[in-house]
Amino acid sequence: MHYASKHNGLFGKEVIHLQECPSTNDYAKTFFKSGILKNGQVIITDFQSSGRGRSGSSWEAEPGKNLLLSLFLEHKNLDVSKQYLLNMSVSLAIKDTLEKFAQNIDFKVKWPNDIYFGDKKVSGILIENFLSSNTLEQSIIGIGINVNQQFFNTPNASSLFQICRYDNDIAEVFSVLMSALEVNYNSLINNDIEGILNRYNDNLYWKNEMRHFKSNSNWKGVIRGCDDNGRLLIEKDGKLSSFAMNEVTFLN
Ligand code: BTN
Repeated sequence: MHYASKHNGLFGKEVIHLQECPSTNDYAKTFFKSGILKNGQVIITDFQSSGRGRSGSSWEAEPGKNLLLSLFLEHKNLDVSKQYLLNMSVSLAIKDTLEKFAQNIDFKVKWPNDIYFGDKKVSGILIENFLSSNTLEQSIIGIGINVNQQFFNTPNASSLFQICRYDNDIAEVFSVLMSALEVNYNSLINNDIEGILNRYNDNLYWKNEMRHFKSNSNWKGVIRGCDDNGRLLIEKDGKLSSFAMNEVTFLN
């Protein structure tokens, strides 16, 4: 497989392609610490033996069937308060990419940043940030997109294959993703906070639906949106409460 970004931007212009590695995020971190990563560079692999998810979970993907990569970004003057908007812009880029391949399909963002089709997860994001005082200096943006995998051990996982019923060219998905990531990142750099927030909120999974959640106890509420600090806003008994990551769980 040859990975090359066809757009004229920086993201994915340089690619390190490994047949196999434990985790592209870990690999990127090691390279970053040795000072050999360039802004926009990507580490991509066909198989991860210890793929990592958020909150210590693992990310399973069959060899050669999916997109597994880490994009290294060196920010310029990005305030740490924008880290949630960075998450949102990455989520939107993945949604945009998937919708180019599965036409007429509406993907949703499950807060904070899982990409869903119906009630199934097609893509996950693991962003690791490096800060210096109030500035976001660098980020390693780990992305897993289930492309051609047909069967999953976890019941709530899906792939482009399951949606389209045909294989897609993983290198082509990579190229479209790089361009979408750069477009959405530029919105952030150009300070289009409202644009990112509105589009994220317009595409939120479970938005405006009465659903079950858990914090201290189990309760019912309606997601109304997310604020620019990345907090989820849920209406419960006519009152709006906001939740940080790990403060609330979605129940089915
Ligand atoms: C999640 O949904 O919990 C996040 C999953 C992130 C998976 C990607 S695959 C490429 C990169 N390397 C990793 O070890 N994890 C991320």
